[in-house]
Amino acid sequence: MSIIMSQELIEPAQKKFALLLQGQLKRILEMKKAGSWVDYATLKPIIIGICWGDGIGEFISKNATQVLMHVLEEEVKTKKIVFREITGLTIENRVRHNKAIPDDILEELKSCHVILKGPTTTPQAGDPWPNIESANVAMRRALDLFANVRPVKIPQEGIDWCFFRENTEGAYVLGSQGFDVGQDLSVDFTIATQQGCERIIRTAFDYAQKNHIDRVSVITKSNVVKTTDGRFSRTAKRIAQEYPQIHCDEWYIDIMTAKLIDPARRKEFKVMVMPNLYGDILTDEAAQLQGGVGTAGSANIGTRWAMFEAIHGSAPRMVKEGRAQYADPSSMIRACAMLLRHMGCADQAGKVDMALEVCGQFERKIVITGHDNGATGDQYTDYILSWIDNPKLKSRWETEVYHFK
Ligand code: IPM
Ligand code: MG
Repeated sequence: MSIIMSQELIEPAQKKFALLLQGQLKRILEMKKAGSWVDYATLKPIIIGICWGDGIGEFISKNATQVLMHVLEEEVKTKKIVFREITGLTIENRVRHNKAIPDDILEELKSCHVILKGPTTTPQAGDPWPNIESANVAMRRALDLFANVRPVKIPQEGIDWCFFRENTEGAYVLGSQGFDVGQDLSVDFTIATQQGCERIIRTAFDYAQKNHIDRVSVITKSNVVKTTDGRFSRTAKRIAQEYPQIHCDEWYIDIMTAKLIDPARRKEFKVMVMPNLYGDILTDEAAQLQGGVGTAGSANIGTRWAMFEAIHGSAPRMVKEGRAQYADPSSMIRACAMLLRHMGCADQAGKVDMALEVCGQFERKIVITGHDNGATGDQYTDYILSWIDNPKLKSRWETEVYHFK
């Protein structure tokens, strides 16, 4: 390729790159003036948005909402809490508007304080849908939900992990704004900002401190990805000095994926904090150890809004094979427990967590397999509800802190 030809390709790419950098510098200014944490105790009422999503989302969100409404019956009666249904976050409506989140839906989301969100279909090239951006990723960015908190517990093995995944930058920052340069070169980016690293790392350390946890493990690949992960690692080491009672260590993502399946070592880990993509991968692995991705919930926390969801997607394969009614609602019900705890409803949260644990790990009177040889989501929800109302249920999670005020 001649120098003139490559200049023809490079100049427009440079322009695109300049625009992207401008966007990121603007984002840094926004982060610098971020407001203080919302205080749920002062909100009357607290508005909970329910977003059904699509695929198995419609099924498991209905199951989860049933549980949430059940434990909040009193608060709804006394008008402390109001539910608001948001129906338009379906793949069909998003495709109609050719947008990850149509503008009117984003306004509806912003009118709520906390959101329970069902899985939404994320198109990829070759799907029957246009290749629009993931609604999850777009929502995390639009509402600046920077902390993705994902607990995984296997009590019989003494495993009690809480993952803090950075949620607004890293390899996810540009969504679908990567670009091709000529025929043969494709470019995406990964980004780390000082403000982005600091806020997730501090959130992880604060969580550890409030819950009397004496270890935070930082997960990077800073030996190879030297600039962005290097910043993450350096920032973590500096912040760790402010928490002398907490031991801080750094692990590379590759060995960490191995350690999670090492029975001799894995229960030593407690709080883990990491950039976006590593958190995406590692939390699916962790969830699988707990009983499958269908068992794990996730909190997406920002200072103004918070959104709670399953850690998995809308499972189009299950829907295509006619198995959507057998999808495990535990992930979304766990997300409800996190939502409750975040709003300050610790008693209700404890009951939901405990019922999930009894049904999913101990009693296991009925089990979900994802197929017709197991319970349906509706049957499993009834099973969980029967434990929530059981006076034998004693909450062990009453004091755990998932709200970051
Ligand atoms: C998750 C999911 C999403 C992600 C998908 C559905 C876009 O895998 O919440 O972990 O990649 O973040
Ligand atoms: Mg994922």
